[in-house]
Amino acid sequence: ALASTAALAQAFPGDKPVTLVVPFAAGGPTDRVARDLAEALRKPLGGNVVVENAAGAGGTIGAMKVARAKPDGHTLLVWHIGMASTAGLYRKLQFNALNDFDYLGMINDVPMTLIGSPKLPANTYRDFENYIRANSGKINLAHAGLGSASHLCGLMWQSAIKLNTAMTTIPFSGTAPAMTNLVGGQVDVMCDQTTNTTAQIEGGRVKAFAVTTEKPLSGHKLLKDYPSLAEMGLKGFNLTIWHGLNGPKGLPADVAKKLNDALKVALKDPEFIKKQEGLGAIVVNDKRVTPEGHKAFVGAEITKLKAVIDAAGQFAD
Ligand code: MLT
Repeated sequence: ALASTAALAQAFPGDKPVTLVVPFAAGGPTDRVARDLAEALRKPLGGNVVVENAAGAGGTIGAMKVARAKPDGHTLLVWHIGMASTAGLYRKLQFNALNDFDYLGMINDVPMTLIGSPKLPANTYRDFENYIRANSGKINLAHAGLGSASHLCGLMWQSAIKLNTAMTTIPFSGTAPAMTNLVGGQVDVMCDQTTNTTAQIEGGRVKAFAVTTEKPLSGHKLLKDYPSLAEMGLKGFNLTIWHGLNGPKGLPADVAKKLNDALKVALKDPEFIKKQEGLGAIVVNDKRVTPEGHKAFVGAEITKLKAVIDAAGQFAD
């Protein structure tokens, strides 16, 4: 049964803050999820919950930091599909996604949007794709490093449209700095999570062309107007990003239970749900909120994405 919030607050050693490590720059989609979650965890954990950004190498630097942290429950990782994509992409990764972490629950599912610089002379996906084809040698795509969600989506999209020459891809420490360059017109295109793009689209600072989910986001007041890539002829294109919470391997069982109980309270927090849904994200409320469900899901994602990455002929040393 869920420990009561008050009992949790007393039980968990709140003297030291619980740090949620975000393996990307501040201000991006992963950071957004972590800050909203930190807010929702403060009450059930009864203490400080802070966010620390440790960016680099597509998220693997921050992940490594947590894999090597003391397993006392005070250093946790908020990561995403990159946990699975990097497992298939990096040939020499300093950690194993399934064995070097103690899985806690999952947090949310987040759609992605294909967006472009305001300078692009295209307003519909069809015009956009035609423009890309006509200028394929001159287009650059921004992402948050090899194995990031934005990199993975860019890879899948380029494979799906079978461009004769690949685009120049430009890595950033997260899609917050990448977005600044896109809005400024220094880069042309990016595939990024709705938690980061909704405000920019609404503000008219970028052009939006499509969503990456199988079907359009008919339930979202703004994003419902954009077609899915699958509808635009990219057969079977279906990509949703997810975020999960992990600790280093070796968390004491009682600490892991308290953290999972606190996470379950946070995921039911109406404020948290409202914030996430406003940004197009869906808070997880299925068996993936359990450590076993989360780990099994990541295992399946590693296998699925390895095939995608191999098909794209990509790897990272
Ligand atoms: C990514 O994987 O693209 C990251 O989510 C970007 C970010 O959070 O900054």
